[in-house]
Amino acid sequence: MSVTAIVSLKGGSGKTTTAINLGAALALKGKRTLLVDLDPQASLSYVLSPEERGSASMADVLLDSHALSEVILPTGRENLDLIPAAPRLWEFNQESAPARKTARRFADALRTQRRHYDQILLDCPPALTPLARLALHSAEWSLTPTQPSPMGLDALERFLDQIEEERKQGFHEAKLLGVLIANANPYLRVTVESCLRLKKVFQKRLFHTIVRQSVRLVEAPGLRRTIFEHDPHGVGAENYSKLVREFLHRMD
Ligand SMILES: Nc1ncnc2c1ncn2[C@@H]1O[C@H](COP(=O)(O)OP(=O)(O)OP(=O)(O)O)[C@@H](O)[C@H]1O
Ligand SMILES: [Mg+2]
Repeated sequence: MSVTAIVSLKGGSGKTTTAINLGAALALKGKRTLLVDLDPQASLSYVLSPEERGSASMADVLLDSHALSEVILPTGRENLDLIPAAPRLWEFNQESAPARKTARRFADALRTQRRHYDQILLDCPPALTPLARLALHSAEWSLTPTQPSPMGLDALERFLDQIEEERKQGFHEAKLLGVLIANANPYLRVTVESCLRLKKVFQKRLFHTIVRQSVRLVEAPGLRRTIFEHDPHGVGAENYSKLVREFLHRMD
């Protein structure tokens, strides 16, 4: 079983879109996959939760010590389960130093799911909040999606340096699996130039796979569908299918 934290400094960089569609692609490949929504915005939960509402969530695990197994929901899709978030998760972010004990308990709880899942993806809120740190603490890998734009490249580098520094200091063990260009418009010169710059800066750390900008990827969550359900033959599904192969290959 592998645990991957999907993290970035910037909001709106494609974390949740990647968690949903990479998760769906893994499930379609026959990998038993658990998606964990660690973002109080709960966008991932909105898209993939079964219809009935008010079920238990990650907040009960982190704030009230419920067992992880009590909050796992089926998504109605083969090989794809979900632990939903709830707005109350913000309370965990208020803790200035997230209890190390909670982080350890969460990491241990994920480990107990080893028999049931091949892949666990953790969708994080933006920035290195206590919730994102909790994810890194529990993960073997981190994946950082980014939009290719001239702005924010320095911040991205600093963010990855900080995570790496914290890893070296023993705060977590998550190694960078890769930086993913998650929303690229190949018809814009500025985007193409930014992609080249990202390649130059991150070299092997950059996924070869690029997820192109696609209106279908914007529509799908509103319809509570993955891209494979909404537009199975389109460019978004093609990109996320390619990404899953590279994702698994990088873990070997
Ligand atoms: N390849 C793409 N093509 C077009 N739109 C995209 C693509 N990927 C993501 N988006 C859109 O960009 C917006 C932000 O994406 P998403 O919610 O996945 O980012 P996020 O990093 O999870 O944001 P947050 O930090 O707020 O959690 C959404 O409206 C999403 O539909
Ligand atoms: Mg998100």
